[in-house]
Formats: sequence, C-alpha cells, structure tokens
Amino acid sequence: MVMTSEVIQGDILVVDDSLANLELLMAVLMDGGHQVFTANSGSRALDAIKTRLPDLILLDIGMPDIDGYEVCRRLKADPAVKNIPVIFLSAFGDIKDKQKGFEVGGVDYVTKPFIPDEVLFRVQAHIKLNRMRVQLQQQTVELMSSKGQLERSIVELKSSHKALVQSEKLASLGRLIAEIAHEVNNPLMIISGNAQLCLMTEEVTGEVKNTLDIVVDECKRAKGILNRVLRFARPSKGEIKQVNPQLSIEAVVGILEKQFILNNNIHIVRHYTSEPCFINVDEPQVQEVFMNLLNNAKEAMLDGGTITITTFIEGKLLNISFADTGSGMTEDVMQKMFEPFFTTKENGGGIGLGICYAIIKDHNGELKFESAVGKGTVATIVLPVGTISNG
Ligand SMILES: Nc1ncnc2c1ncn2[C@@H]1O[C@H](COP(=O)(O)OP(=O)(O)O)[C@@H](O)[C@H]1O
Ligand SMILES: [Mg+2]
Repeated sequence: MVMTSEVIQGDILVVDDSLANLELLMAVLMDGGHQVFTANSGSRALDAIKTRLPDLILLDIGMPDIDGYEVCRRLKADPAVKNIPVIFLSAFGDIKDKQKGFEVGGVDYVTKPFIPDEVLFRVQAHIKLNRMRVQLQQQTVELMSSKGQLERSIVELKSSHKALVQSEKLASLGRLIAEIAHEVNNPLMIISGNAQLCLMTEEVTGEVKNTLDIVVDECKRAKGILNRVLRFARPSKGEIKQVNPQLSIEAVVGILEKQFILNNNIHIVRHYTSEPCFINVDEPQVQEVFMNLLNNAKEAMLDGGTITITTFIEGKLLNISFADTGSGMTEDVMQKMFEPFFTTKENGGGIGLGICYAIIKDHNGELKFESAVGKGTVATIVLPVGTISNG
C-alpha cells in the first residue's frame, strides 16, 4: 500500500532501454494516477526534456548510448531542469552504483525487479518533496522582497523624519533671525538718523565730521546686512520668473571664476545640457544657493582643484551638480551639515547650507550631497523643469 494520505500525481519521464521495463513502469505509474512519457535512450531523454518538463524522472543506469549517470550529469548542469528530481533504476545491488547515483545528483534509486508499491511510494514522496521545495523557495523570495520593502520604507521614513526636523529647525531659526534683525534695525536707524542730524549742524567739522560720516556709512552697511539676513530668514519667495538655468549659473560663476583661478588655483569645468529648458524660480535666491555651493567647494580645496558644473534633465527634473575635488566630508559631518550654525571652519558661520536647503525646498526641489573623504563632494540641486522652449 502507498503510505501517503494525500494523493500526489505528477508528470513523469521514464528512461530505460528495455521495452519491458518501460511498459511495466508505465503501467504501475499510470495506475497510481500519474501521467507518463518515455524515452528508450539517454539521448532521446535529453531531447524529450526540451519540450516537456516532467515533475520527476525515472532513469535507468545501464544504457548503450549515454548511460544514466551521464544523462543525470547533463540534466543537473542545465539550470532549466536541474531541480527535477531523478530516481535511478538500478539493476545492481552494488552499493558503489548507488553511491555514484547520488554523487551525480540523483535523489533516490529503486532496484530491479521493481516492487510496484515501492516505486509509487518513492515517486510520490519525491514529487511532494520537490513541490514543497519550490513552495519554500517562492516563500523565501516573497519574504526577502517584503523584507526589502520594509527596509526601504524605514529608510524613507527616516529621511522624511530628518527633513521634517530640518525644516522645523530652519523655521524656528528663521523666526529668531527675523526678530533679531528687526530689533537691531530700530536702534541702528536711530543712530544713523542722529548722526545725520549732527552732520547737518555747522559746528561739526574736521575730524568729528569724518567720524560721523563713518558712522553713517557703517549704519548703511549694517542695514544692508540685515536686509540680506531678513531675505534669507523669511524664505517667502520674491518674484518667480522663467529662468534659463545655464545663464543664471554663469552669472554667478562670472563673479567668482577669476578670483578662484588667481587666488585659489581652482578651475571650473562646465557640462551643460544641450536640451533647452527653463526653471520657474526666484532667481536671486537660487543664485544665492549657487554662490554658497561654489564657495563651500572652494573652501574645501585649499590646495586648488576643479569644480565641475553639470546640468542634465531627468524626466521632469533638472539636476544641477557642483562636484569638487576637495577634502570631502565624513559621515558625521554629512549628518550635521544642514544644521544651523554647524561649521568645521575656523571662521565659518555654519548657516549657508541651511539656507540653501530652505530655498531649494521652497522651490519644490531637493538638495543632495554625496561625498568621499579625500576625494571630494558632489552637491546636487534637483528642481522641477518649467516650460520647455520650442527653440
Ligand atoms: N563642498 C564641501 N566639501 C566639504 N565639506 C563641505 C562642503 N560643503 C559643506 N561642507 C561642510 O558643511 C559644513 C557646513 O557648511 P555651511 O552651512 O555652508 O557653513 P560654513 O561654510 O559656514 O561652514 C562646512 O563647515 C563643511 O564642513
Ligand atoms: Mg558655507
């Protein structure tokens, strides 16, 4: 009696050069509810398998053209069929033959003369085992992919959390700066106004007049600084215009390039996209970002180097990258670089990147960094492309 409670039926290839054996096995297997196809030589078996993939193969060892071991070896070398279980039909009781069968990839053997129930039992057991193996493999693949999804979600969650914390910090920093700027502005205007009043009186001459002129000028300068700070601190956009990114970058590079070459031995290489495109931005703000990134690149290349500016369009996004050959950043610096007042420079303010981040976010864009210590840094601005010019 077959001992499994569940009836397992499969498609089975029987390979044997003896017609009598083929007929016998066919009858036994079909009795057990299986579908059967046969081959009476090793080469025919290898041919048959190209068009019909069985659930299991019963394979005779001693055959005139290619013997069972060799057939099995070839099957196991073919990724499409290597997982089909092979049971050897062995006429010999010799332990060495059985061992060799396992060595070439067989899963089991039955010895002639066949006992029908034993043949059926072994066939069923191996079909079941193989199906379980396939199922397990699928489940493992599914498990791995859901694990991957989970990991990706965690990474996304972490990065959006970081972005949230970042924008919260910047918002409160912005408010603080705006308040300070406002508070300082009032006494400054009083100082300046009084100095100007003094200058109007006839008694003020010579050294005193010169000093008051300096006071008025410096007040004007301080007012300019406050205005710039206020513009950053309130990241509300000014006038949004259609801007040609290349021209906009070049306007900033034009201011810096000569000084970079002469003072810092830094050369600028351009790779601008040839595709015509526009971005809808508050140009002075975005140029402030270009300026900050170029200055950071310069400050990271104390012995000179190259800044490569690249623009390219990816779908509906424009990528603008500034790659330097400078000191690069450690993981730790990368983590903190956007934090207000974080700087590694002796005279750094540590506010540039926070402002860049806020400006780019405000334009529905992204500011990304890649960096390798001792090799350099790539800062990439990603902005939505505006209207495409028709040339
Ligand atoms: N291109 C770069 N290469 C190496 N380090 C950089 C680069 N850009 C920014 N950093 C790091 O990020 C820090 C913060 O930059 P930033 O906010 O512009 O402030 P600051 O330039 O005043 O230090 C810098 O002090 C520096 O350590
Ligand atoms: Mg800076």
